[in-house]
Amino acid sequence: MTLQLAAPSSLAEDLASRIELRTARVAVVGLGYVGLPLAETFAWGGYTVLGFDIDVEKVAKLKRGESYIGHICPERVAELVQSGRFDATSDPVRFVETDAIIICVPTPLGEAREPDLSYIIKTGEMLRPHLRKGQLIVLESTTYPGTTEELLLPILEESGLKAGEDFFLAYSPEREDPGNRDFATRNIPKVIGGLDEVSQTLALALYEPVVDGIVPVSGTRVAEACKILENTYRAVNIALVNELKGVFNAMGIDIWEVIAAAKTKPFGFQAFYPGPGLGGHCIPIDPFYLTWAARKYGLNTRFIELAGEINMAMPQYVVDRVAEALNDDGKAVKGSNVCILGVAYKKDVDDPRESPAFTIMELLQSRGARMSYHDPHVPTLPRMRHHKLRLDSQELTPEFLRSRDCVVVVTDHSVFNFPWIVRHTRLIVDTRNATAGISSPRIVRC
Ligand SMILES: NC(=O)c1ccc[n+]([C@@H]2O[C@H](COP(=O)([O-])OP(=O)(O)OC[C@H]3O[C@@H](n4cnc5c(N)ncnc54)[C@H](O)[C@@H]3O)[C@@H](O)[C@H]2O)c1
Repeated sequence: MTLQLAAPSSLAEDLASRIELRTARVAVVGLGYVGLPLAETFAWGGYTVLGFDIDVEKVAKLKRGESYIGHICPERVAELVQSGRFDATSDPVRFVETDAIIICVPTPLGEAREPDLSYIIKTGEMLRPHLRKGQLIVLESTTYPGTTEELLLPILEESGLKAGEDFFLAYSPEREDPGNRDFATRNIPKVIGGLDEVSQTLALALYEPVVDGIVPVSGTRVAEACKILENTYRAVNIALVNELKGVFNAMGIDIWEVIAAAKTKPFGFQAFYPGPGLGGHCIPIDPFYLTWAARKYGLNTRFIELAGEINMAMPQYVVDRVAEALNDDGKAVKGSNVCILGVAYKKDVDDPRESPAFTIMELLQSRGARMSYHDPHVPTLPRMRHHKLRLDSQELTPEFLRSRDCVVVVTDHSVFNFPWIVRHTRLIVDTRNATAGISSPRIVRC
């Protein structure tokens, strides 16, 4: 199939033909939870891939054919490195070797919950002196509508090259769902919006051979907004069930049973589940990017604010339930040994970023509890921007469980044997309905 370029230029035609022949070299900038699987997908799809990260340890590991992400198989990385289809570097000079550069750097929130775009800015500034004519740049980091055109484009054009003529620019949101066994980069449809028609055509052609479906949209802003809508939808619906959890709990109704019944409706209802609070790199953060951007238009995002308020109150809700449960057991929080079961932000992943476990541990610790945790996927609590706890995961033995006054289930990893855990535990507060079907007076579901 020959690519049809609306307004062909020799640069665009040249790149289009390299993409078609799969001789185009693809750089992926930021080899984290998103960038590494993406680099792997491009390499398995037949492109030669250069992974770039400022973290020299990650680069060294990849070059040795190792993986630092639980669900990325080291054997597959090693095979790609040996085949010559994948290499990693921290040297920006090597961008000149590549034809397409995909940016997957972090987009966290700052202290005042404002977008922290410093990683995108630094990446743009780092790329600028190494840009050459005929390259395609695609931003994948989650961000508010307008970032590609208003922030990244001017930085790149300071190189003297002009977007749409000398280089091409697009946005395509990453929709990775780590730990999901049914969906990985390859079979999640890719939404793609180009700065102009040529950029769009080139970006679609680049991704088309490596993902199962591509979804062209009319521009970068629509693609950026699409990702924010997806995550806002989740944040708002999770807030709804979190709020209803408190209401139904007061009425003596089990919200989990209610949701299980409601989701038998074959249309018009999608199940969301309550929990101890939002976690991860997306849902607690991305909606606030839109809130910030909307303010520039004099508009408020009331759903997002309300959902944020409800979801952020969940760790305190859990701590209150723990305090009540201990009280019913004749104990105070102060001086009690409390173990958190699962600190990753969700089931079966090794990523603890933004996990509500941290806030729950800090709140309990501030009330005098002696904290410990067990998580087979997180052997040591990493340094976090907003949390200072330094703990190692404890071995889960009957003796250890019996020595805890309370065990709080924050993340229900599949490896946990809950009947066994309940058997050895004096008191268990379950925020995930992980103990469903187990009957014991020692379980408090919240
Ligand atoms: N983790 C997810 O599940 C997920 C899902 C969808 C979208 N996203 C979005 O994807 C983006 C990346 O997230 P992530 O989870 O992969 O982050 P991450 O922290 O796991 O990885 C980011 C990587 O970028 C590297 N980096 C930072 N600055 C750099 C620079 N200037 N040049 C090169 N490398 C640099 C870091 O060393 C790190 O390895 C974010 O915008 C995030 O919101 C994440």
